[in-house]
Amino acid sequence: MMEIADYRGPTMDQIIGLCKQRGIIFQSSEIYNGVAGCFDYGPLGAEIKKNIKNIWWQDMVHRRSDIVGLDCSIIMHSDIWRASGHVDGFSDPLVDCKISKMRYRADQLYFAKVIVGREVIGYVSVLEDEKMQSVAENQAQDLKRKLAKQGALAEIVLQPYTEARPEEYALIPSPATGKPGSLTAPRAFNLMFQTHLGAVVDDSSVAYLRPETAQGMFVNFKNILNTYRVKLPFGIAQMGRSFRNEITPRNFIFRSREFEQMEMEFFIQDDADWQEWHQYWVKTRFEWLKSIGLGENFLGLDVHRPEKLAHYSRACTDITFHYPFGVQELEGVAARGNFDLRQHQNASGKNLEYFDEQRNRSYLPHVIEPAIGVDRLFLAVLCSAYCEEPVGNEMRAVLKLHPRVAPIKAAILPLVKNRSELVSLAEKIYQKLSKMHHVQYDEGGAIGRRYRRMDEIGTPYCITVDFDSLENGTFTLRDRDTMEQKRLTEGEIITFLADRCL
Ligand code: GAP
Repeated sequence: MMEIADYRGPTMDQIIGLCKQRGIIFQSSEIYNGVAGCFDYGPLGAEIKKNIKNIWWQDMVHRRSDIVGLDCSIIMHSDIWRASGHVDGFSDPLVDCKISKMRYRADQLYFAKVIVGREVIGYVSVLEDEKMQSVAENQAQDLKRKLAKQGALAEIVLQPYTEARPEEYALIPSPATGKPGSLTAPRAFNLMFQTHLGAVVDDSSVAYLRPETAQGMFVNFKNILNTYRVKLPFGIAQMGRSFRNEITPRNFIFRSREFEQMEMEFFIQDDADWQEWHQYWVKTRFEWLKSIGLGENFLGLDVHRPEKLAHYSRACTDITFHYPFGVQELEGVAARGNFDLRQHQNASGKNLEYFDEQRNRSYLPHVIEPAIGVDRLFLAVLCSAYCEEPVGNEMRAVLKLHPRVAPIKAAILPLVKNRSELVSLAEKIYQKLSKMHHVQYDEGGAIGRRYRRMDEIGTPYCITVDFDSLENGTFTLRDRDTMEQKRLTEGEIITFLADRCL
């Protein structure tokens, strides 16, 4: 986890509070006390999520001639996950507390060693979270102070549990009980959810819920080559649900057990300049994230060091986002060589090579993969958009969502509700616009209060039908962010909304 320095966005409490109050996101199965790591999207949340996915699909597939779409089943042949390396290697290090039955990720469970001279005289354990640094610091400093009173000068070393020596497991206190002796050694815990296909439950019926959408693109590579007129370089894009039995789902929708991914495998010639393509996709994806409203000041790049790369990866750059709990991966852009196609070709025995007419030879293409989580992007979108700002003597809460992302594109408001001619004209405009966009009709309360309601849920435009509208057929269009108003005809409003919201 990186530093939380200079963070200027909203707090997690503000974001979670907003989601709860406005029906954006609910805990899954809330009336049964919830299911950890699973979430439900309410009316506004469902709209925002659909918009995020639609924009990605439009910009990645519809507005490009070199990428095609795919929609695979979630349950695939279990051999796929063996070939991809997920059965053997897709795991996190798990630590159990034998007394409390709590489970921790060893790389997120830290312990502080208090050393005097060469002797370790005490252990403190802490879980990695937004307060980790200060909790660890405080606990260890307390011990240090006590020791100082006794005349001993202590040194403090903070390490993840994965780096503990076997003889230390019994000495490190469990975060649950505060006492040593109950933590186990770390063991690999596979993150895939297992199930069985059909009525027989044995090894031959084992199946997995997919932990990523990517493998669907590799195993359908030949199908697409054979049925669609594609030529290298080209991409296959897919979005959909993925499942990971995360040991410690955390930070709201940032790390959950059921989530959605939007991934694209971009296939290139085996002798193409892969570094150049990798850079191209890092830049393209970074610009796209900005284009849908993520503030540049929140975004960053984390180029993986060679020793941090997975064995099949040639390079990987994360596009990071400064969340309230720290700088974290939002999207990964990986250069995967031809690892996946080669694995599936070997495991299936089917030829997955591409015949390159220009070069007059067959080969396995290489691939660049930009992969992003919908829910993680949703959280970044909210954090970028949320603000509270002064208007006159009051504060207004406003969600400055990009119009393409906003759940409601425009509100149609008759100035007053007790004048039938205003109401019927407003309803007419509403009927017309609702065929093109998700718009809302609202006649309840003072006009200022209606504007504020719309500001809070991120509606970018309010269209007010007033007495001038009856006279000259123009309407007031108010901009959420600048609060400026201008008069437009119905035709001008239609063009205005199409230009900004589609
Ligand atoms: N095919 C490559 C792949 O799946 P990944 O880095 O494991 O790579 C890609 O996942 C993206 O999916 C991440 O950058 C993140 O946005 C999202 N993601 C991964 N695990 C997630 C989880 N448990 N909850 C929410 N989003 C997750």
